Amino acid sequence: MVCLGNICRSPLAEGILAHKTKHLNLKVDSAGTAGYHIGKFPDSRSIEIANKYNIDLSNQRARQFSRADFDEFDIIYAMDTNNYAHLISLASNDEERNKIRMILNEINPNSCDSVPDPYYGGANGFQDIYTMLEKACNKIVQNIE
Ligand code: 4NP
Repeated sequence: MVCLGNICRSPLAEGILAHKTKHLNLKVDSAGTAGYHIGKFPDSRSIEIANKYNIDLSNQRARQFSRADFDEFDIIYAMDTNNYAHLISLASNDEERNKIRMILNEINPNSCDSVPDPYYGGANGFQDIYTMLEKACNKIVQNIE
């Protein structure tokens, strides 16, 4: 799960997918394309909305996406079109490029809709992105199962 800062959207996406796939042998992780927040806890508003749904983000710390992630993971979900373009620019071959997807395309195929960046918005933004990510993660789990 990849966003810009790895403190708002992608930690929540990681938490939701990890929560829904506890019964599967999956490695779920998240990262930011930028390095501004490396080592920080998720944003308190992401922690709060996750807690409301019994999802614990407390073990997460922000990190920056690295090229090694293309080897480590089968699917790389971008939260928005900027993250997607950044990831594509880091990929060095078709195998890597083919791993990168827009997460909301799971629920709206080919739409290339972005999960809005809630960083500068109010608390409602976090409820909205939770709802979107939860739907997308349900689809991801269905596909895997
Ligand atoms: P995220 O949100 O990409 O969902 O983690 C942001 C967090 C921090 C900043 C931007 C977006 N920032 O500019 O510091």
